[in-house]
Amino acid sequence: MQHLTLTRPDDWHLHLRDGDTLTRVLPHTAAVFGRAIVMPNLKPPVTTVAAARAYRERILAALPEGNRFEPLMTLYLTESTPPAEIRVARESGFVHGVKLYPAGATTHSEAGVRDPANVYRVLEAMEAADLPLLVHGEVVDPRVDPFDRERVFIERHLAPLVERFPRLRVVMEHITTTEAVQFVREAREGVAATVTPQHILMNRGALFEGGLRPHHYCLPVLKRERHRRAVLEAAVSGSPRFFLGTDSAPHPRRAKEAACGCAGIYSALTALPLYAEAFESAGRLERLEGFASHFGADFYRLPRNGERITLERRAQAVPAAIPLDGDELIPLRAGGEVAWRVVVPNGA
Ligand code: NCD
Ligand code: ZN
Repeated sequence: MQHLTLTRPDDWHLHLRDGDTLTRVLPHTAAVFGRAIVMPNLKPPVTTVAAARAYRERILAALPEGNRFEPLMTLYLTESTPPAEIRVARESGFVHGVKLYPAGATTHSEAGVRDPANVYRVLEAMEAADLPLLVHGEVVDPRVDPFDRERVFIERHLAPLVERFPRLRVVMEHITTTEAVQFVREAREGVAATVTPQHILMNRGALFEGGLRPHHYCLPVLKRERHRRAVLEAAVSGSPRFFLGTDSAPHPRRAKEAACGCAGIYSALTALPLYAEAFESAGRLERLEGFASHFGADFYRLPRNGERITLERRAQAVPAAIPLDGDELIPLRAGGEVAWRVVVPNGA
């Protein structure tokens, strides 16, 4: 197959940041994706509907002329989020989920949740308002090995939470393990997962390829090959519970190539072609459209996009670096090639 035409996709997990970084990275996503669920882990975090409204305005102002990309906003859940804010969020029409970061689990998660029991009243309000909960599924317990933190989170926190709030819609974000695949596949109705390109293209060997590779470091960290395969199989399975969420997370090169480097992989520049590579490797290119363009919209109860885009099987070079406000951004596959490219209709 040389060409693949599909409904314009959406990215159901994206970090856009703010200011100059926002202006730099937004066009990469907006050139291809119709919408994105925008993560709220700014500094300070987006904890109120008023803050989400202002952030949304800044994103729209940063869009290239004529681009109709739609940011779908989220709130950052804290232990002091008032349940009343959930009703305001639901009525806003532009807030589509609430993100739970275990405090200390990842970039800008300090204001997150220490104990899920402390947010039960907010979760009740979300269940009543039918506003989805988006979960970073890793424990922060230092006694738990970093490669086991997702599995242990499911046992200790996610499985009980999904039981306790039987009508709450839940997205387990950026899944990385066989255990997460199994949990999501067998869970009750209303439980889904996003899948990143890195977790279906690379295993943890990529962190040590010829030396320490900070640009392959993200959270949850890459896992063993058998986990990569399980997540890839889930993505290409055709199950509507698994859909596209890049978790593209820009950090300046200085912050990545450091004694204590930040977690986050920047994939937005070539995200859809990277997924196409992964689906092709599994012999399931025909299932890319459901994963990229249908299942997420259906889960979030939004209309599927009307426009179509075309991918072409023609390699593209990935730049070694992208300028970024006095620093650089190193994209996934920097200096290498991706086997597919997007042929964007109308240059939109
Ligand atoms: C994300 C970031 O940089 O904001 N980093 C990451 O490694 N994925 C945060 C997150 O989604 O965990
Ligand atoms: Zn993320």
